[in-house]
Amino acid sequence: MQKLGILWGVSVGTGDPELLTLKALNCLQRVPVVAFPAGLRGQPGIAEEIIRPYLQPEQITLALTFPYVLDTDVLAQAWQRAAATVWDYLRQGRDVAFACEGDISFYSTFTYLAQTLQAQHPEVLIQRIPGVSSPMVAASVLGLPLTMQDQRLAVLPALYHPQELEQALDWADVIVLMKVRLVYGQVWSILAARELLGQAWLVERASTPGEKIYHPLDGYPELTLSYFSLLIIQNPRH
Ligand SMILES: C[S@@+](CC[C@H](N)C(=O)[O-])C[C@H]1O[C@@H](n2cnc3c(N)ncnc32)[C@H](O)[C@@H]1O
Repeated sequence: MQKLGILWGVSVGTGDPELLTLKALNCLQRVPVVAFPAGLRGQPGIAEEIIRPYLQPEQITLALTFPYVLDTDVLAQAWQRAAATVWDYLRQGRDVAFACEGDISFYSTFTYLAQTLQAQHPEVLIQRIPGVSSPMVAASVLGLPLTMQDQRLAVLPALYHPQELEQALDWADVIVLMKVRLVYGQVWSILAARELLGQAWLVERASTPGEKIYHPLDGYPELTLSYFSLLIIQNPRH
């Protein structure tokens, strides 16, 4: 029987190609097939841009489409399609590396791809290479510690109800808001009401040439932000 290829989940950092680990780089250069999420409107995606300088012409590249929607049926179909594409190579004994922006275990599409593939083909071996995640990169570009001593950290993936931020502000010392773009206006109002605009740092496209920092937030009640934006709030002892 043909030996199966391994699916590697490879964390590639947040933009600066030097934020890849040596393990990620070795894997990306060793495998015959490299997959990544397709970019929007025919543009390369961020993971693809990060790894492009390291790929060889003979490597096969697969841009897998994952729509930015909440509809679970549409998403499940996309994961099935991506898993089937990857499986085509694995069953031929070829290893596939899936490049993931930031860290592979932190709000990553790879999780769904891996779960879908594993459900259909439990015999496939999946390996994960950890990496540098956006909250850590944002803290480093700000020149701040993300947490220290006994500080409690809360990470909110996105804010669908303002109450969730209010609750986090009641117990956490440091709060990271991922995917803040769509709820920025609401967040700004909550921070203003709590007099925390001077304790909040917004980082857009951290570690890329388009990196921007907004701080303090008093002058920015509205902002048109990139999807790649996050907010760090340092909540004084309450
Ligand atoms: C689907 S999550 C992926 C997180 C990623 N796996 C990580 O480890 O950072 C996407 C969110 O991560 C944050 N993010 C990722 N890269 C970023 C960057 N370079 N600058 C600022 N925020 C970033 C943004 O909040 C974005 O909406």
